[in-house]
Order: sequence, then C-alpha cells, then structure tokens
Amino acid sequence: MGVQYGHMASMEVQLGKRVLRNPVVLAGGTCGVMGEIGDAIDLNSIGAITTKSITKESRKGNEPFRIVDHHYGMMNAIGLANEGIDSFISNQAPKAISLPTVVIGSVAGHTIDEYVAVASAMDKAQGIELIEINVSCPNTADGLEFGACPKQLQTLLQEIRPALQNSGMIVKLSAAAGDVRPHAATAVDCGADALTLINTIPGLAINVETKEPVLSRGIGGFSGGAIHPIAVRIVHEVYRDVTQSTSVPIFGTGGVMTWQDAAEFVLAGASAIGIGTASFVNPRIPIKVARKLQTWATLQGCNALSELVGAMRC
Ligand SMILES: Cc1cc2nc3c(=O)[nH]c(=O)nc-3n(C[C@H](O)[C@H](O)[C@H](O)COP(=O)(O)O)c2cc1C
Repeated sequence: MGVQYGHMASMEVQLGKRVLRNPVVLAGGTCGVMGEIGDAIDLNSIGAITTKSITKESRKGNEPFRIVDHHYGMMNAIGLANEGIDSFISNQAPKAISLPTVVIGSVAGHTIDEYVAVASAMDKAQGIELIEINVSCPNTADGLEFGACPKQLQTLLQEIRPALQNSGMIVKLSAAAGDVRPHAATAVDCGADALTLINTIPGLAINVETKEPVLSRGIGGFSGGAIHPIAVRIVHEVYRDVTQSTSVPIFGTGGVMTWQDAAEFVLAGASAIGIGTASFVNPRIPIKVARKLQTWATLQGCNALSELVGAMRC
C-alpha cells in the first residue's frame, strides 16, 4: 500500500453545504476540549474534530478512576466534566476559527432547556460549523437518557432544531437503546443533517483482588476494538432501513483501530468515520487511517470513496 498512484480517489464528504476534506472525524471527548490533540498531530490531515461535550453549567465530573485501560478496550465514566457553556464560549470557541479542520461542537444537557441554551450559544460561535447532539445523557426529570425513547428524542430535537440557525445538526445515538433504527428515523424526521453511530456501550469491569469496580462510578462506557462489530451492524441496519433512501450521512464510530475497520464502516453505509479510543493508543492512527482509506478506494478503482458507501455485497 506504499505505491503512488497518478489519480487518487477523492475523500471529500459532502454534508449539506459543508465539505469535510476526508471522512476521518476525531470523536467527541477524545481529542481535547477544542482539538488540543493538534499539538501532537497535524489537523490538516483530519476531516473534522469534535469538541468535548459541553453542558450549560460547569461540571466537575466523577471522582477518579474515571478512565481505565481495559484489555479489550477502554472504560470511562468521566461524568461530563467540563467548564460550562459560558466559559467555553469565552475561552475555547474563539480558537475554532483558526483550527485547520472543521469543528463540530458537542452538546449535552440534563433538561431540554439546557440542551437548547448550549446548542444556540455554540451555533453563534464563529468556526463551529456543525453541532453534535449527544443524547446519551439522563434527563433529570425521569433519569432516562434523552436518546432512550424516540418520543423523548423527538421532543428534544424539535426544540433544538430551530435554535440552529447557522450550523448543521448531527445526532449522536447510543446502542444502549437496543434497536436504534426507530431513534435514527426520528432524528432524520426532526431534520438531522447527519447521524453519529455509536456512543460507548455501558459496561462494568471489576478488580478481582479488591472486588471493587475499577471505575469510581461502577458502570461506565466501554469503547475500543471490541465494540466495532456491534457498531458496524448498527451502521448497516440504519443505512439499509433508514438513511439509504435519504441523503443523510452516517458517521460510523466505535472501535476503529485500523484502516480496515474504517473500510468496513464505509461498506456498511458510513460516509464518515469517528475515531476515539485509538487516539489514546497512538494519536497518529486517525491520519494513517485517512491515508490508507484513500489508497484502498483508489485500488478499488473508485474516483471517490463515496462510491463505496453501503457497497457491502449481501
Ligand atoms: C475518554 C472518553 C471520553 C469521551 N467523551 C465523550 C464526550 O464528551 N461526548 C461524546 O459524545 N462522546 C464521548 N465519548 C465517546 C466517543 O466519542 C465514541 O463515541 C466512543 O468512544 C466509541 O468510539 P471509539 O471506540 O473509537 O472510542 C468518549 C469516549 C472516551 C473513550
């Protein structure tokens, strides 16, 4: 795969009126608050970065340990630690305009009003072109995640959509809901410009010496290579049954450690690829994945990687 080709396949991803230079997106909460991973890698080689999820008020998050290496991947229960939207807008958002890649602002909340307040503040920030709604947060009213049931998701998205005057809306769903197709259909009906599939999967790791959970909070989000086939199945089902008939792109996210993992996502129906845990292993992996995906698409005889989206043979 080290050969040079005269004409390399185009890697651009069209997202409404916006274009990503390539499909590799650094996933929410895994590349810094505002792309600090750019100190270690050249963000010119990345399609987009996603900010840490931001809430209305600042949050300390959970006590340590809240990120733990796991032999099958990674466990985290950070508890949405962040500085809150006012500080984010004053101190982080102004950096977005000078980052050499598209910036996706990630929004979280515990009430609909909180989501709307954060989303509309981010929408006004120059340089934040897309807003990702992280619906894997519990609603303080009933303790259920906003993304857990399509009805609640609809209520949330119907409030957020009009607040986004300048930015595209990406809805990030969790696999915890089981079959995510009804949730994906709801997001599309509510005007999502893209879907991110998936967030971490709830897991539990126990220290067999102390008999205590390894994370302070007990249950946490499991990510990394082991969740990849689950995420590929979900992307495939949502593409086949929900988005193929629309032009809404999927950001396949979950366990991409190699370019082949990313290529599987494309064949299953993803137009872009989110990478999180792999950046903790080696921050250069996303750049390598982008380059090798291009070589793969070129060797497949394609003018553009987009020709391979959903091209799995059934
Ligand atoms: C340490 C860590 C922090 C995360 N923080 C966020 C976050 O703030 N917002 C969010 O939407 N997802 C967050 N995620 C989930 C990732 O964006 C991604 O959806 C998930 O880890 C699956 O991808 P991966 O297997 O490539 O890591 C976090 C994941 C990890 C490992």
